[in-house]
Amino acid sequence: NEIYLQGLAGTVPPFTTDPEGLAESARQRLGPGPYWYVAGAAGSGATARANREAFDGWRIVPRMLTGASQRHLGVTVLGTEMPAPVLLAPIGVQSILHPDGELATARAAAELGVPFVLSTASSHTVEEVAEAAGDGPRWFQLYRPNEPEVCASILDRARKAGFSTLVVTLDTWTLAWRPHDLDHAYLPFIRGIGTATPFSDPVFRAGLSAPPEEDLTEAVLRWVQMFTGTDHRWEDLPFLREHWDGPIVLKGVLHPDDALRAADAGMDGVVVSNHGGRQVDGAVAALDALPDVVDAVAGRMEVLFDSGVRGGADVLKALALGARAVLLGRPYAYGLAHGGQQGVRHVLRSLLADFDLTLGLSGHRSPAELGRDALRAAPGRW
Ligand code: FNR
Repeated sequence: NEIYLQGLAGTVPPFTTDPEGLAESARQRLGPGPYWYVAGAAGSGATARANREAFDGWRIVPRMLTGASQRHLGVTVLGTEMPAPVLLAPIGVQSILHPDGELATARAAAELGVPFVLSTASSHTVEEVAEAAGDGPRWFQLYRPNEPEVCASILDRARKAGFSTLVVTLDTWTLAWRPHDLDHAYLPFIRGIGTATPFSDPVFRAGLSAPPEEDLTEAVLRWVQMFTGTDHRWEDLPFLREHWDGPIVLKGVLHPDDALRAADAGMDGVVVSNHGGRQVDGAVAALDALPDVVDAVAGRMEVLFDSGVRGGADVLKALALGARAVLLGRPYAYGLAHGGQQGVRHVLRSLLADFDLTLGLSGHRSPAELGRDALRAAPGRW
């Protein structure tokens, strides 16, 4: 309605949120380094493509005469109330895309009450982002640093800054072979260190002989040492439990046995995700992995989903296959590149409106009504 009314007054939306158009117009705005930082994937891009194909492999079977003109989209996940089953995925170093970076994203998310998952690799400190988020719900994503005291310090600061749920990313203990980033020699990423500090905890900078902007080499080396090359194991989880008194969710789970193990370890949830196809080229599409994980955990913990969500129908399909909520990645990063806070807001509102309409038109009044019977495999898919 709002769009029709604005159209009558001659005002059109600030930019397209059609997924391909959105990426293309972000490409025209950003230089190739920043653009490919977002758009790029691991290796040949097979996993990123598979993520999308998996959505095309399911078709919605709309139901009629169900009284779906009144809908309630809200859900509560791990104690966080959200206006719809959608969160903003952690995306690192957002100052590469807009000077306001994570502050803009946090403000846009808070305006709509949508939880923002802040990356460890934030360009702004957790305290600054918390202030920008105000009363908005916020979760914190952990890339586990090698030094336990640094890890404890990050968790302590995130908790004190009001981040309620911890999302521990398992699939990126080192960066994958990403041809586009390699072609640009990680330049936008590294320059991010100069303009704002990607790893916000001051501990990352302790011991540097000069501030990061003056000694890039040292800053980059320290960052690499801090986050890569160390084994991560199931035995590490009690440490996290000890240092975090809120819910803990493991992100990057694709195998049902790993999900079971997470449940056995007392974790509160998993995010079925292949990091948007950015880690293992040729990995299973995240949506294809979802039903087995949902069946394996059998309600013992929350199952969230990301990788490939681009529109309302995608949200609906992931929920119908058993996800409690989805995380949105690249599209909001493009929105940020377009117009900071307003850009993220426009992308997010468009997705929520699309989901709301798709849910209703397919005959459902709330996310809770969605089940596998809402879908049918596309012909020839299975
Ligand atoms: C990411 N992702 C990510 N994940 C994470 O746990 N910590 C991080 O810092 C980042 N950084 C990051 C940067 C960029 C540019 C992208 C595109 C992605 C992964 C992200 O949280 C999510 O899993 C995917 O983006 C989901 O896939 P789609 O929606 O982008 O297809």
